[in-house]
Amino acid sequence: MKVLEPIIEIKNLNKSFGDNHVLRDFSMTVYPGENLAILGKSGSGKSVLIKCIINLIEIDSGQMIVLGKDLSELDQDELDEMRAEVGFLFQSNALYDSMTVRENLEFPLRRHWSNEEREKGSEAAVLEALNDVGLSHTIDMMPAELSGGMRKRIALARALILKPKVILYDEPTTGLDPITSREISQLMLKVQEKYNATALIISHDMHCIKMTSNRVIMLIDGKRYADDTYENLQLAKDPKIKEFFD
Ligand SMILES: Nc1ncnc2c1ncn2[C@@H]1O[C@H](COP(=O)(O)OP(=O)(O)O)[C@@H](O)[C@H]1O
Ligand SMILES: [Mg+2]
Repeated sequence: MKVLEPIIEIKNLNKSFGDNHVLRDFSMTVYPGENLAILGKSGSGKSVLIKCIINLIEIDSGQMIVLGKDLSELDQDELDEMRAEVGFLFQSNALYDSMTVRENLEFPLRRHWSNEEREKGSEAAVLEALNDVGLSHTIDMMPAELSGGMRKRIALARALILKPKVILYDEPTTGLDPITSREISQLMLKVQEKYNATALIISHDMHCIKMTSNRVIMLIDGKRYADDTYENLQLAKDPKIKEFFD
């Protein structure tokens, strides 16, 4: 059997802020095609972890290998190249309020495509990404004119526009009503399949995790406390695991 190269490999990651030791010797591997969820309580370090993966936060110690590259060895250009292959859906969406939907989606293209590539392909790329999330008609609207669920979809469209190999989702359903959360979870599955992308989903929404992931890592006390399928974790007797399912 051919062993596939991991998409993300984290070894003994440590990260503190002052004396707040958030991640403690945290290790994990994400394989191609997986939809892996990281489950942890609020404040457990999920966002910190995901930001370490795209090098938005500097780590204290450990090794981070993303798409085969050791982050500590990358210069700025190489880091940019890596980021073009990693779609990131921020918890806050991070849409630009003063820009239209089209301009928001063009933003990554301006950073990663040449003028010529943009002239040829920008319009089609924007339309394809909007079509993926079912919001073609919002192309000339402003983010403020959209509902919370629609803004989340636009943020997802922007994360997809460069056709990433891996998509990182930070709390994709937090703050949304149950029906909209379900729709977003379904959409995540749909786009991951279309783009054949690996997904890392950070959440404490058990419905979202159950729907979107095929493996779950539990982040407790800064460590990889458990690593199993949702179904197996649901059967666990350990109170620290059980409380997530109550
Ligand atoms: N830039 C920062 N400076 C100081 N402390 C931070 C910073 N970012 C996160 N933290 C702290 O790290 C811990 C984990 O935060 P976070 O990863 O955002 O949690 P969550 O699991 O809810 O996403 C929290 O105690 C938070 O206060
Ligand atoms: Mg967070």
